[in-house]
Amino acid sequence: MVHDDIKEVFVDKEEIKEICERLGGEISRDYAGKEILVVVILKGSMVFAADLIRCISVPLRLDFIQASSYGEGTKSSGIIKIKKDLDSRAEGKHIIIIEDIIDSGKTLFNIHKLLEERGAASVNICTLLSKPSRREIDVDVKYIGKEVPDEFLVGYGLDFAEKYRSLPYVGVLKPQVYAKV
Ligand code: IMP
Ligand code: MG
Repeated sequence: MVHDDIKEVFVDKEEIKEICERLGGEISRDYAGKEILVVVILKGSMVFAADLIRCISVPLRLDFIQASSYGEGTKSSGIIKIKKDLDSRAEGKHIIIIEDIIDSGKTLFNIHKLLEERGAASVNICTLLSKPSRREIDVDVKYIGKEVPDEFLVGYGLDFAEKYRSLPYVGVLKPQVYAKV
């Protein structure tokens, strides 16, 4: 069972529901009278996005983008490669980027910049989780579900070596799970 590998639950189902309702409500108020393009960053954010969009009452369209960090080794260059681009045009759109977790900020900084360069009318970021102590690039995040300490988290879309995305909560792995890899 995947649950057996979890040491501690960090954000439980009820709290996730509260976060989605709160952020969905804020977005619906802030964008009243507008239509939005929701850009989901694959793969991790798809679980959060699926719940969040059902709490947003303004009309929206969905699109997906997937990025990966350029360069080998432990230090990421901060430049990202687009592995899967949007199907729709960003020009003139009010965009909300949905992210699962912000760590260094590099991924979001680059995607935010790219969409602005393509002529979006506005670009705001909504993240389920944020690790402020890990930030290397300053990104303006308008909607934050919860700030978390510098711990590696899995579940609710977040993976460790592509596993644990299906957990219905966000948790911390047992140390022996890392040791096995
Ligand atoms: P950043 O570009 O350094 O902000 O990295 C953000 C990305 O790193 C997220 O979209 C996640 O895919 C991944 N990430 C960062 N922290 C965690 C974590 O605690 N668990 C799982 N993935 C993480
Ligand atoms: Mg990821």
